[in-house]
Amino acid sequence: MSTELPEPAAPPPTGAGESSPAPTRRTFIATSTALGGAVVAGGVIGGTFLADPEEATAAERPPSSRVSLTVNGTSHTVTVDNRTSLLDLLREHLGLTGSKKGCNAGACGACTVLVDGRRHNACLTLAVRLEGAGVTTIEGLADGDQLHPLQQAFIDQDAFQCGYCTPGQIVSGVGCIQEGHTGSPEEIREWMSGNICRCGCYVKIVRAVEQTADRK
Ligand code: FES
Ligand code: FES
Repeated sequence: MSTELPEPAAPPPTGAGESSPAPTRRTFIATSTALGGAVVAGGVIGGTFLADPEEATAAERPPSSRVSLTVNGTSHTVTVDNRTSLLDLLREHLGLTGSKKGCNAGACGACTVLVDGRRHNACLTLAVRLEGAGVTTIEGLADGDQLHPLQQAFIDQDAFQCGYCTPGQIVSGVGCIQEGHTGSPEEIREWMSGNICRCGCYVKIVRAVEQTADRK
């Protein structure tokens, strides 16, 4: 039995009596990359044309709405994409970057703000649902140069390390105190349990909330 392989067939002619050289791995990758770049640069992904937002017609733009709300005592009327979270409204539209984006999924409490006096995860709250609402962020707690008592207590108790969770902890602590859930360290821990501190400052955070609640 013969083990010889047959001669490979000659490549078909591509015109004018010439045959193009077979693509090498190098030329194949170079061509694919160039074509891919052209496709993305043209705004085409998966066959769908993504219009330049500047040139998009009204029908192509995502639905948006006007919303009027008060943030830290200042009235704002803004037009936002209906999918905008309160956290993005604060940070991206109003320049209030004190509220932090940790998980962006309601699991860490770094974005905690007060909406009409109640604690909310701003990352899970749609801005367009807040027509007429009053929002308080960490920027709205101090009175000029006079820190809010809980802000001062965090300093007194050294209740932070990196500080990333701290704005959410303080706003949540203010809500916790207003709600009256400060009867014991255990109660404070329970009602502050939605606020995660990766640095593990929990003991001092509870002391800061206790200190402020005791002074009320
Ligand atoms: Fe909102 Fe984590 S960023 S809960
Ligand atoms: Fe660093 Fe809380 S102080 S996460």
